Amino acid sequence: MQGLPMERLTLLYSREEVAGRVKELAEAINRDYAGRELLIVGILKGTFVFLADLIRRLKVPVIVDFVGLSSYGLGSESSQQIVLTKDLQVSIEGKDVLVMEDILDTGLTVDFVLKFLRERRPASLKLCALIDKRERRIVPVAVDYVGFELDKGFVVGYGIDYAERYRHLPDIHRIELEDEQGREK
Ligand code: XMP
Ligand code: MG
Repeated sequence: MQGLPMERLTLLYSREEVAGRVKELAEAINRDYAGRELLIVGILKGTFVFLADLIRRLKVPVIVDFVGLSSYGLGSESSQQIVLTKDLQVSIEGKDVLVMEDILDTGLTVDFVLKFLRERRPASLKLCALIDKRERRIVPVAVDYVGFELDKGFVVGYGIDYAERYRHLPDIHRIELEDEQGREK
């Protein structure tokens, strides 16, 4: 698929593949949480499409809330400062909480979220990531449910953006950036 002039998109996971994995993840979650109520915490904004698809396949009772975060680069990736910009509206104390993230990259975002949620004493706290991109991991994170494992690359579509664009695409694509001479960056 064609992106903007400097941005080349190539199909990575088709909408059918994504739907298949979402169904399998939901089945595993249904089994693991049978008889319990699940509180899902989506990390904005990248998870909204994934979350919307997954929750419609859940058979356990579900509460949904979101957190928003901003990260400020302080030079290098490992020194990123992450700040909470939107807190939860519900209490998670004593609840079975499942955090949903679009892509795990360095692990810094999810590590930050899991740490502050743990302080609020949920009964359990698990993590579901659509894509686990391991190459640049800085903080080790235990992922309980993974859609796809990816070595490297920047991806867009299915809620995931590049500079806020492409979230609406139904499939997931790799995005490659070219400079004005058409060379890959
Ligand atoms: P980490 O794990 O590095 O992730 O704290 C930070 C945020 O970066 C986003 N991310 C991506 N977003 N395409 C995107 O649009 C990508 O390939 C990609 N890799 C990481 C991710 O949303 C996470 O919240
Ligand atoms: Mg994100």
